[in-house]
Amino acid sequence: MKKNTINGVEPTSVPKHIGIIMDGNGRWAKKRLMPRSFGHRKGMERMIGLLEHAFDVGVDYVTVYALSTENLKRPQDELDGLYALIRKHFLENMKKVCARGARLKILGEISLLPPDIGALVKKAEEETSAYTGKGINVALGYGSRAEIVRAATEAMKRGETLTEESLSSLLDTGGQPDPDLIIRTGKEVRLSNFLLWQAAYAELYFSDKMFPEFSDADLDKAIEEFSRRTRRFGKTDEQCSTADGE
Ligand code: IPE
Ligand code: IPE
Ligand code: MG
Repeated sequence: MKKNTINGVEPTSVPKHIGIIMDGNGRWAKKRLMPRSFGHRKGMERMIGLLEHAFDVGVDYVTVYALSTENLKRPQDELDGLYALIRKHFLENMKKVCARGARLKILGEISLLPPDIGALVKKAEEETSAYTGKGINVALGYGSRAEIVRAATEAMKRGETLTEESLSSLLDTGGQPDPDLIIRTGKEVRLSNFLLWQAAYAELYFSDKMFPEFSDADLDKAIEEFSRRTRRFGKTDEQCSTADGE
């Protein structure tokens, strides 16, 4: 696969897994005197472009937050518009991006979505199930607290003692590396129930841009800032500068 480098960023400093909280579609549309659905449409297009660009620059996993459990309380006409968008464009676009060798995984509770959407995303997951090493997670009907409760319930059912590793493996992201970088667009500075467990040591990056206007160059800028951060994971600078970190 073609790999582009970002100016000033060593390929080894590119995050392996990026999470993106795609916020600001509604405000972006409102500013243009357009309906919120127009913002969601533009947001979906931007999401595809960003996924392609992320793989081009060497990212292996991208998790995009598309619809939260809390978003399910939005007015039904907005939800219907989002579902229509998924029906019309999701499968086709995802197939295109996943053809780069990425496995698609839906994070969240599919049963909270209309049944035909559930069937559609399951089909897309199956079609990409042979791919390994790269992945796209779409958080749909997703809430991190609900995900943790589901995982803990499963562990109890199995009669397992919980460890950090066993809980991690039972989450929807089980088997994947934790996100190194979480980006939120749309000016808000919060996680809104996104990957709370997995983000324990993620670097956070907040952009004032609304999601439809968050460009490939903006993603490069976030990765560049990430590459300049010092990740200590609780250790001292001195420990981090020795080869084995001990
Ligand atoms: C994020 O954009 C997309 C979804 C939550 C579906 P919003 O719809 O939250 O846009 P704003 O925050 O109202 O601008
Ligand atoms: C977070 O955005 C969820 C998604 C981007 C899917 P929200 O717009 O729902 O977040 P809050 O309500 O402002 O925290
Ligand atoms: Mg919002």
